[in-house]
Amino acid sequence: MAAKVVLATKNPHKVEEILAILGDIPGIEWLTFREISFSDVEEVGETLEENAVLKATAVARETGLPALAEDTGLEVEALGGAPGVRSARFAGEDKDYRANNEKLLRLLEGVRNRRARFHTVAVLALPDGRMWKTEGVLKGKIAEAPRGEHGFGYDPLFVPEGETRTLAEMLPEEKNVISHRRRALEAMRTILQNLATGVILA
Ligand code: IMP
Repeated sequence: MAAKVVLATKNPHKVEEILAILGDIPGIEWLTFREISFSDVEEVGETLEENAVLKATAVARETGLPALAEDTGLEVEALGGAPGVRSARFAGEDKDYRANNEKLLRLLEGVRNRRARFHTVAVLALPDGRMWKTEGVLKGKIAEAPRGEHGFGYDPLFVPEGETRTLAEMLPEEKNVISHRRRALEAMRTILQNLATGVILA
């Protein structure tokens, strides 16, 4: 019987990317918000790690199943690491992608240092309180104007190191090979394999 793991996010873009990255592990049956209901978790943490822990532990407790959560932030060097953990609400409570991107471009007007990184912290939590944490980083720079239609969030403004295209100009399968999310989640693969084979008992 497959081990059930809940994806503790209601963001369909994240669900799609996480399943593209980890969906192939034999013996894991992923349950998304489409298959199982769970409450929204307020992201009140001061760090990406705190928020990922909050989301994974709350959903594991509520569903009685292992839960995987991640929290991602965009850290811009010239802004002292902002928006960071506040990336979703950078321009206001309604989490508007376009308004966030416009605010970022406004703050960086005339700024030559465009260096930035995406930072993801992933947490797998079991209902009994055990948990595993991994992280992934993608370095790059902020473009002068949004480009591309793929992806979500800040993707139209982020050019990965060694690339000329923004993440939104890449195909989803290209983003998923190099992304911060990929790096954080790949580091979780062995733990999930151990869960699938019963080496770790949920
Ligand atoms: P959260 O992890 O859902 O809190 O997301 C924080 C903010 O970063 C939101 O505005 C997201 O849209 C944005 N974000 C998260 N992951 C990515 C990504 O892979 N590319 C671009 N923006 C992202």
